Amino acid sequence: MMKFDRPAERNPIDDQTVVGQPTSRIDGALKTTGQARYAYEQHDVVPDQTYGYLVGAGIARGRIRAIDSRAARDLPGVIEVITWENAGDVTYPGGGTPDYLAGPEIQHYHQAVALVVAESFEAARDGAFLLEISYDRAPGRYALPSLAEGDWPAPDEAREGLEPVDSDTVGDFEAAFAAAPVRIEQRYQTSHESHAMMEPHATIAHWADGRLTLWTATQMVGWAQRSLARLFGIEKSDVRVIAPYVGGGFGAKLAIQSDAVLAAMAARKVGRPVKVALTRPMVMNNTTHRSATLQRVRLGAERDGRLTAIAHQGISGNLAEGRHEPAVSQTKLLYAGANRLTAMHMAILDLPKASDMRAPGEAPGLMALEVAMDELAEALGMDPVELRIRNDTQSDPADPERPFSERHLVECLRTGAERFGWSERSTTPGTRRDGDWLLGMGMAAGYRDNLVRQSAARIRLEQDGSLTVETDMTDIGTGSYTILAQTAAEMLGVPLGRVAVRLGDSDFPLSVGSGGQWGANNATAGLYAACVRLRAMICEMLQMPEAEAQFADGAVTGAGRRVELAELVRDEAISAEDRIEYGDLDETHQQATFAAHFVEAAVNAWTGEVRLRRMLSVCDAGRILNPKTARSQVIGSMTMGIGSALMEELAVDAGAGFFVNHDLAGYEVPVHADLPEQEVIFLDHPDAFSSPMKAKGVGELGLCGVGAAIANALYNATGIRLREYPLTLDGMLERLPPLAPPGP
Ligand code: MOS
Repeated sequence: MMKFDRPAERNPIDDQTVVGQPTSRIDGALKTTGQARYAYEQHDVVPDQTYGYLVGAGIARGRIRAIDSRAARDLPGVIEVITWENAGDVTYPGGGTPDYLAGPEIQHYHQAVALVVAESFEAARDGAFLLEISYDRAPGRYALPSLAEGDWPAPDEAREGLEPVDSDTVGDFEAAFAAAPVRIEQRYQTSHESHAMMEPHATIAHWADGRLTLWTATQMVGWAQRSLARLFGIEKSDVRVIAPYVGGGFGAKLAIQSDAVLAAMAARKVGRPVKVALTRPMVMNNTTHRSATLQRVRLGAERDGRLTAIAHQGISGNLAEGRHEPAVSQTKLLYAGANRLTAMHMAILDLPKASDMRAPGEAPGLMALEVAMDELAEALGMDPVELRIRNDTQSDPADPERPFSERHLVECLRTGAERFGWSERSTTPGTRRDGDWLLGMGMAAGYRDNLVRQSAARIRLEQDGSLTVETDMTDIGTGSYTILAQTAAEMLGVPLGRVAVRLGDSDFPLSVGSGGQWGANNATAGLYAACVRLRAMICEMLQMPEAEAQFADGAVTGAGRRVELAELVRDEAISAEDRIEYGDLDETHQQATFAAHFVEAAVNAWTGEVRLRRMLSVCDAGRILNPKTARSQVIGSMTMGIGSALMEELAVDAGAGFFVNHDLAGYEVPVHADLPEQEVIFLDHPDAFSSPMKAKGVGELGLCGVGAAIANALYNATGIRLREYPLTLDGMLERLPPLAPPGP
């Protein structure tokens, strides 16, 4: 085990001959030629596969009265109908997670009530439509509270169905706010959102000799293995989870979902492998989503722009034992200011489970805070970039003894303003025009924590001098294969093309997995540890002092000798495995990533239609391991930011208690035609506190603040301040400035 408890010193990664280069994805050709197989496409891994079709509850709360499956069972090809009455023992999760299979109680709409298993997908689907299910309905709560003007729960105040879940104070906010010469107070709203990843949840489950094997779409192989072992009451070592390729996740695939559990239940019952994919309309209500939020921001400042009082309060919704969306977390750390208050409440809702979606907390939180900062800048008559620069802090505002490890937000802001041409922005909203289009620019700061977690990997020097990397790390479309290959190539001095990377299998060493933008830094750091061990083993074999050994061009050189790596391996490959673990550097120092986002938008003066013209994100996220894959992550996140700002909204039927627009026709996400020119600049300041890689997360950073930059650009274009996301034209239509001359 390699314990990382002191800042990294110089190491072979600093050479950056391979790491840091904009290498194309080594798995790219497999994907573009259809050879990379996803969970549902593993047709030949095990014979006799059957098909399971999931049936979701048609009510949001209540009980199943009866399920009549006779007609379904009589259908040719149908093998079995799994319901709560015959599924067999499964230890249900609890802890805020609804049961994977309902019965008799229904906890939310489209909770699974049955899985029809058949010889073909079509027979399973036909069987599903033949089920007769009757319910007793019960009333539920489906909407966040509507709070009258002036009414907001005090930080620790409990109300019926509204629980205080988190609050923090520094100094005396109320007194400082009352005394501040310039103040703003506003409320904002964000919508329920769906991850909408390309590949829906899908699993093939197979039991043999009491052991369960799953080919499944998951971000976290280790978590899936642990959860399944717990659910089925077997040893972890009796569960194997295989996920070499995953088609996106954004948090939707952190925890296992009904596809995995019901496929495993059904496979146990019918004694054959069962494959299950959730249809797209099932994903939105059967699995998880990001909760909508209500947010209240109060900012008080001196006339020179220095913040003296910052309060950010929020409300999100979830099932009673679920977790809240921590929308105020960034507000604890983004700006200086002596008097601070942050608080979250959770409204108990009977909607499907709310859970993590990309940048949980910061993504919706910055959509409020960073519009509030724009509103404050206007109240101060100050440039919004300058306001943020003036309130930079180099240490945790709640604990001045605790510095940021690296923080270059000011450089992000200055670089972005210059590169974007921020000085062209009109300081008077609604005054720039291009034909029928009102033009505006907006900006926002971005913040997201960097999380360090242990991660293990194995590396093998093969007989031909090539390297094989094995770890259960996933690549969910992010570039994990590529950056791991780069790390091994750099550490052992082997060409990139001579490194094979095998991922996503619980038989491999346990990695950090993909989530929370922690994957890249931690997974490569775990491999770094394994590579250090392999280097030591090689030096030991050669009786060569490690300090003198140079690994380059497929050979090791030192102590007056040069030995080809291929010559070292006799009968058996040389294998090294290790794990990175962390000390308290993330406690003594705040580790985070920073961005400045700039947007130019056009709003049609007649219709209020929005067209984005340009976007720029300047990111400070430690060493960038691969500027090409990192850029792809950031523009993907920026695109998600466009969605949450302008179109994404799971609409609630507040009577029946479900998300109405549960497919990609009704739940709109940005398509290429919605995207403007997107540019990304990386500052590339290595962070010696984060790991030996000196990298930090970047995937989620690209989303943090983008929505607010868009909102601020729309305001600058039109003079209309929208505070309810998504920002749609109906919010603007009535209020567009009368710029057009009256008709003839
Ligand atoms: Mo991300 S929401 O941690 O996959």
